[in-house]
Amino acid sequence: MAGVFSGSVLSSRALRDNFYLLETACPSGEPPRAGQFYMLRAWGTYPVLSRPLSVFDAPENRLVFLYKLLGEGTRLFSRLREGDPLTLQGPLGHGFPELGGNVALVGGGGGMAPLYLGAKQLKAAGTGRGGCRVELFLGFSGIPFLTGEFEAAADRLIVKTGGFITDEVDPGRYDHILACGPEAMMEALFAKCEAAGAGDRLHVSLESRMACGTGACFVCSRKTRGGNKKVCKDGPVFPAREVFGL
Ligand SMILES: Cc1cc2nc3c(=O)[nH]c(=O)nc-3n(C[C@H](O)[C@H](O)[C@H](O)COP(=O)(O)OP(=O)(O)OC[C@H]3O[C@@H](n4cnc5c(N)ncnc54)[C@H](O)[C@@H]3O)c2cc1C
Ligand code: FES
Repeated sequence: MAGVFSGSVLSSRALRDNFYLLETACPSGEPPRAGQFYMLRAWGTYPVLSRPLSVFDAPENRLVFLYKLLGEGTRLFSRLREGDPLTLQGPLGHGFPELGGNVALVGGGGGMAPLYLGAKQLKAAGTGRGGCRVELFLGFSGIPFLTGEFEAAADRLIVKTGGFITDEVDPGRYDHILACGPEAMMEALFAKCEAAGAGDRLHVSLESRMACGTGACFVCSRKTRGGNKKVCKDGPVFPAREVFGL
């Protein structure tokens, strides 16, 4: 069951290009599945809304988040220091589906955050079932970061700075593809998968503005093939055809 937890900051580290790594102690709750997210809050009444962040990593009793500084909420996150309190609600949403075989994970910008835990969990789940081979495609706009960590988590890491990381993906080589990042990137990848006859192999993790994060407010409502769906509760991970094949 998702819950609301009082956590504290263990470390906060500035990376490059306004990206930060935030490690928190979160002593209770179920272990998150890659692709799930938490609503985080590190302030009193303003901003009114908590902010959704995907889980980057989940060592025992800890949660690690990788985020890009964009506005007021993430600016306040970036000012957190060791020992500062914060509130975490989660894990929320459906994470990545259980998969096997050859899997490509494709991420750009803040969308690369869930792919580290995704690669680790997919590789672990594949063990004993014939193996799950994970190739990780990451698109950066500036100098890449955390490449050592990502490289260790996957069987192969492909990094691209500038341009389109989707150019590097050959959809026909994979049993499954998971993508997370700018919507234009995921839509272009869906078109490429469709052209290769692999549209049904692609899942995408959507980002939308959120208020409650739990399915109560409709702020994150999104038109899909199956009618309007809530990104927070029905997603954030969807079969790509359901959202882009309208
Ligand atoms: C399920 C989910 C998981 C997410 N996981 C991560 C993550 O792991 N790492 C990460 O860096 N970000 C992630 N995001 C995006 C993150 O929640 C937003 O960047 C954050 O809420 C912005 O808050 P802010 O107060 O700093 O910016 P605001 O002041 O609210 O907005 C600043 C600017 O950013 C834009 N913006 C705000 N939210 C979004 C959004 N969701 N998508 C696109 N543009 C937005 C606004 O339009 C505005 O231009 C996730 C979003 C969702 C829905
Ligand atoms: S954010 Fe409230 S329903 Fe999704």
